[in-house]
Amino acid sequence: MTELTLSNIQKSYGDYLVLKDVKRQISDGTFFTLLGPSGCGKTTLLRIIAGFVKPTAGTVMFGSDDVTQMPPHRRGIGMVFQDYALFPDKTVFENVAYGLRARRLPKDQIRRKANEYLERVGLSGLGDRLPALMSGGQRQRVALARALVIGPRVLLMDEPLSNLDAALRVQMRDVIRSLQQETKTTTIFVTHDQEEALAMSDEIAVMKEGRIDQCGRPQDIYRNPQTAYVASFVGSANLLRARRIGTDWNGVSDFEVCGATVSGRTTSPAEDGKYMLVARPENLAIRRSRGVPKCGEVVGRVKAVQFQGYRTGLSVVLNDGTEVQVDGFGESEAASMTSGDEVFLSFADKSVFVPEASL
Ligand SMILES: Nc1ncnc2c1ncn2[C@@H]1O[C@H](COP(=O)(O)OP(=O)(O)O)[C@@H](O)[C@H]1O
Ligand SMILES: [Mg+2]
Repeated sequence: MTELTLSNIQKSYGDYLVLKDVKRQISDGTFFTLLGPSGCGKTTLLRIIAGFVKPTAGTVMFGSDDVTQMPPHRRGIGMVFQDYALFPDKTVFENVAYGLRARRLPKDQIRRKANEYLERVGLSGLGDRLPALMSGGQRQRVALARALVIGPRVLLMDEPLSNLDAALRVQMRDVIRSLQQETKTTTIFVTHDQEEALAMSDEIAVMKEGRIDQCGRPQDIYRNPQTAYVASFVGSANLLRARRIGTDWNGVSDFEVCGATVSGRTTSPAEDGKYMLVARPENLAIRRSRGVPKCGEVVGRVKAVQFQGYRTGLSVVLNDGTEVQVDGFGESEAASMTSGDEVFLSFADKSVFVPEASL
């Protein structure tokens, strides 16, 4: 049972500040994901939690224990790396049993536990193999069993799926997620893949240049981004220039977007009054033009159409030159459009607006 508390973590290498005041409390049993582009500090933060890197400032607590100065082997962590990091000259069984032997458990317990975890990751009967004779997916299952068999206080994973091919990557998401839920192990998972983060996590911290830009449940991050950066990094979004024209009323006010008036919410006010509308491709309403546009509708023309089965992707150029992506589903009117069609497009009521400067 481990709650994790990161307080004011900073890390610098010389003059270069890699982590800037990271703070977060992660409740016991949470699957917590650090998401962000390469170089934003995910691995550094994970290695600080593991104890391989000492923070320049700040503290790491496991429950009520301050582990900031504690070496990795005393923290009770399990780790899974992108490149598996198995012992190449040890059998699969010995790889899994390693942490149990280090803890000097009785032989019969070691055998029972190691075999139990091999079964849990779907590798029963393969204990005698050497890692070199296994596929990438199988090796990552061994690494997962090795990390979990010791009953770690915290499970740490650094891009564990990045070396696997696409189909296996999706399959391994389920393996990791269900084992994590069965064992209720507090888990910190690092990835640059937003789809993976949305699919697997209880909570996501979206990182930008050494800081957490926004933290929340996958649904919150996707539906209520607080910055233009989060909106564009997680899922696809049309970001359209907007100007606030009304005063706030119960958290909702009017904005001018491409000549239309759109009402919406904003959680962070822009000091310069410059906003962007976050319009997900699936939240735009589109119809073929007939007569004059209704209030709130913008005139545009379909530029390109991509049929993708359940979804049809449209590129639409609005009359002010802005290009937006719109999704049509199934056999809807949108999905039947062809390039050149003149359309009326409208934005969802209660749209989300973010400060332009937050990109
Ligand atoms: N030991 C180090 N010395 C100097 N710079 C480092 C060191 N480790 C990481 N960095 C720098 O810190 C930044 C963040 O790195 P990292 O945590 O690996 O990012 P991520 O895992 O998000 O890709 C990068 O610019 C990287 O070059
Ligand atoms: Mg990394």
